[in-house]
Amino acid sequence: MDKKELINSGKVKSVFATDKDDEVIIEFRDDMTAGDGERKEVMNDKGAYNAVISAKIFKVLDENGIATQFVDLIEPNVMLAKKLEMIPIEVIVRNIATGSLVRKYPLEDGTKLEPPILQMDFKADEYHDPMLNDSIIKSLGIATQEEIDILTEEALKINEILIEFFEDAGIILVDFKVEFGKDVNGNILLGDEISPDSCRLWDSKTLDMLDKELFRKGKDDEVMDAYIEVYNRILTDEEKVI
Ligand code: C5P
Repeated sequence: MDKKELINSGKVKSVFATDKDDEVIIEFRDDMTAGDGERKEVMNDKGAYNAVISAKIFKVLDENGIATQFVDLIEPNVMLAKKLEMIPIEVIVRNIATGSLVRKYPLEDGTKLEPPILQMDFKADEYHDPMLNDSIIKSLGIATQEEIDILTEEALKINEILIEFFEDAGIILVDFKVEFGKDVNGNILLGDEISPDSCRLWDSKTLDMLDKELFRKGKDDEVMDAYIEVYNRILTDEEKVI
């Protein structure tokens, strides 16, 4: 599959057209950003680790009944995917209170959230991704009530599948963010990525962070070791292509 023109360049991924109208090539770059893109560094092979981890997670979700945009991993950092028109909503699921939740609300860091919290943020750096509710979403015209219900149901299902998947790898799924889009037929599919960039992952025994929070906290030299640890724990030897 040949890479054609660049369609979109995000903070860490570039999307290219292909020969097919309904497929795109997504290149995961080595960029790492925080604070709405204000801080930016390059981390060696980060793109490849995130693409391989994300491909594995999308495959697991697919096997468990979640429709995703993933088609194939053509190079360690290059994914073939179904073309989606992305819905500008970050759907966040939280199993443990931490991060922005404990900064905004009187919840103690580390509190188990039962049932999990589901939150939707507007994907718009210029507005600092403000939290949405159903009426704001509908006023903005970014999703209908039926679509909001689908995103909610899918995100909670993804949470259940991934809690168990990570548990088997000795990892606690603290929280994560997912994004959805519509394919050329109007079906809502899971898009973007699920990786240590978009999840908080803690070692089950030590509670050590194994995700982008290390970068947010300025521990840049620990970031890649953590991502590689996740990679080593969730992939089989045959799946390790880096
Ligand atoms: O920062 P906050 O606590 O709201 O993040 C919740 C979860 O969503 C974390 O796993 C974080 O990595 C993810 N997230 C993301 N992209 C954003 C905001 C949050 O992947 N723009």
